[in-house]
Amino acid sequence: MSHNMIASDLDAATELREGAAIREAFWLDPAATYLNHGSYGAVPRMVSEAAEAWRRRMERQPVLFFQETLPAALRDAAGVIAPFLGAADEDMVFVENATSGANAILRSLRLGPGDTIVGTDHGYGAVRNTARHVAAVAGAALVEAKLPFPGTTPGAVVRALEEAIDARTRLVIIDHVTSPTALVLPVEDVARLCRRRGVPLLVDGAHAPGMLDLDIQAVGADWYVGNPHKWLFAARGCAVLWRAPGARGELDLHPPVISHGYGSGYHAEFDWTGTRDCSPYLAVDAALAFYRALGPARLRARNVALAAEGAAMVAAGWGTEVLTPAAMAGSMALVALPFAVEPTREAARATRTRIWHEHGVEVPVMAFGGACHVRVSAQIYNEPADYRRLANIFAR
Ligand SMILES: Cc1ncc(COP(=O)(O)O)c(C=O)c1O
Repeated sequence: MSHNMIASDLDAATELREGAAIREAFWLDPAATYLNHGSYGAVPRMVSEAAEAWRRRMERQPVLFFQETLPAALRDAAGVIAPFLGAADEDMVFVENATSGANAILRSLRLGPGDTIVGTDHGYGAVRNTARHVAAVAGAALVEAKLPFPGTTPGAVVRALEEAIDARTRLVIIDHVTSPTALVLPVEDVARLCRRRGVPLLVDGAHAPGMLDLDIQAVGADWYVGNPHKWLFAARGCAVLWRAPGARGELDLHPPVISHGYGSGYHAEFDWTGTRDCSPYLAVDAALAFYRALGPARLRARNVALAAEGAAMVAAGWGTEVLTPAAMAGSMALVALPFAVEPTREAARATRTRIWHEHGVEVPVMAFGGACHVRVSAQIYNEPADYRRLANIFAR
């Protein structure tokens, strides 16, 4: 996209605007109260238009695009996003989503009978399934450390993992921000623990880019997966996979889809996994421009404060409590429901569906720890009135 287009669109889209006043910069239904940025993000119009411009370029001469334009454009895009996330370009590749990135690492492990992968009981379901699968085919096991909840503390997270790691452990996998419980976990402390114990670490940072002031290299993990398509406003699916400089662990890393680049190196293998639409990757500069125009530090602080304020408002209205401790909070927070819902995926979904269809409020319901809770998100287009509407639905 041209820089003139970025500059004029950005001024129009972002200048000193937030809450309802910036909603028109997104495609979101203006009638909806959207408190679920966390699940799939929400793409600004100018970012989808930048991706569409790449698609049109692809269609003008597809062979030229795939064979000549794309390889260099992909590396250029990695060169834009990597330094922003505290990584060197050569260590970063694009993948469709965090699930795919986690699959690349987990499915490249060569486990033997009796080996373990150590995770936590707050892990993301799809990634837990992947770990279970690779363990099962090798006669290995996924061991899930149970984190105290509610009342989680950073120290308790490290202690729970410390107890779960032993001589059989081949990989630790930990979320930077947990999906069912909205906790920011102490990944740097976990990385130190793993180094001390000589076990490689994969951080599933699906929510971290854009939500946190992320410096991937400083985390100290061996592999890191993140989703610019959540809190960094990238077009969907745009995820990144990072590996620590210098091969670590004994991992012979390959993408989940093997293609022409097999055996030809990290970039060759991941940059081409068959014909696909790479426009979300190529438009990552537009997403970053949008994010930067909002003022990254101010935006992050605003969202963390609004999530806390909004969650407190909902809990007060319902006569329940906020389950996310302030010391581990990002721009999402968990609030207890004022009535019992069977803690199953189906019952949680049914409650979410009811809240949306009867009240026009989109908020995810999470089954966790023997109960169901709502997880509110806070993004630039949210404002206190959004949470008031949710609070009023089940007001006591
Ligand atoms: C911790 C975590 N990991 C992985 C994912 C999956 O992300 P994606 O759907 O982009 O693969 C999510 C999605 O919310 C998540 O919260």
